[in-house]
Amino acid sequence: MMKILITGCNGFVGKHLVEFCLSQQCEVIGIGRGEGSQEPSDIHDKYTYVKGDFSDVEFVKNLLDHFQPDGLIHLAAQSSVKDSWSDISGTVDVNLSKTVSLYEGIRKSTLANKLKVLSVGSSEEYGYIDQGKMPIRESERLLPVSPYGLSKYLVETVNEYYIRQFGLNILHARPFNHIGPGQSLGFVVPDFSAQIVNIELGKQAPVMNVGNLDAKRDFLDVRDIVRSYFLLLQYGTQGEIYNVCSGISISIRSILDTLVSMSNIKITVNVDPKLIRKIDVPDYYGSNEKIQHELSWTPEFHISTSLADSLNYYREIIKV
Ligand code: GDD
Repeated sequence: MMKILITGCNGFVGKHLVEFCLSQQCEVIGIGRGEGSQEPSDIHDKYTYVKGDFSDVEFVKNLLDHFQPDGLIHLAAQSSVKDSWSDISGTVDVNLSKTVSLYEGIRKSTLANKLKVLSVGSSEEYGYIDQGKMPIRESERLLPVSPYGLSKYLVETVNEYYIRQFGLNILHARPFNHIGPGQSLGFVVPDFSAQIVNIELGKQAPVMNVGNLDAKRDFLDVRDIVRSYFLLLQYGTQGEIYNVCSGISISIRSILDTLVSMSNIKITVNVDPKLIRKIDVPDYYGSNEKIQHELSWTPEFHISTSLADSLNYYREIIKV
């Protein structure tokens, strides 16, 4: 039975990853900052939640020596692109320094380079890519635009250093746009879903406030993403980078149309200038050839299932 340690286990992706690893009969140790939520996974007999701060190298070392996990998936980060613009130094500082202290703890533990580590980056590392270069491959030059993208790009440099200098067994994923139940407001599908539910409940006039509907994005269900992380941890290669994406882009307009068609409301659309971004890449999609080829991973969730599940998630949490 595999034992997996997960940082950032209480976040949107973290919760799904814990659930998935438990469903694969793994033993899971989650590290988080809070008290830990009361999700079903938290009271599973194969799950241990540890509250702690891994900027404390000794804490990490002792944790690893105690639990002796086979693998570690590092999700914890300041992960909001929006917030990264209002706190550039804080985002870069947190994402970099916590990664370094985590690796220091690993290096000093009895596991050292025996521990396989999946570092989770982002498609934001690519930045503004010419349309002619789509689908974006792992070999594409990284020219991050957002401070969040910059922080993850710098994390890759830290990864390279710890592999080269200390032989740590690290590999890195670059996931594209996530969707699925549990995602918080601020991303497009939750923003649309919550408005539809508020309109259904009569809490909002039947007018949907939207931003740029012409943009196209490469969406992947969070449950497909966490399955890829699980496979990468087992079969990925040290020092390699893997895109995690669907390989196609879908317009935000069609996302809106599909979500609205899942409800019986009649709406009008209001393009809110406040939701139009100064920098918004028009179309963006990655190549998933490498991960398909090396891990036989393909997305399983159809976009309509992901959208229905996101909408139903908001139907459950927004009450009259
Ligand atoms: N959030 C939001 N809300 N976006 C809107 C809206 C709206 O009401 N209306 C249109 N959009 C457009 C945005 O302008 C953008 O082109 C697209 O929908 C997707 O926006 P987001 O869901 O906010 O994602 P993103 O493309 O900025 O990517 C971020 O989120 C992904 C997570 O799902 C980045 O953090 C990615 O790295 C990350 O993968």
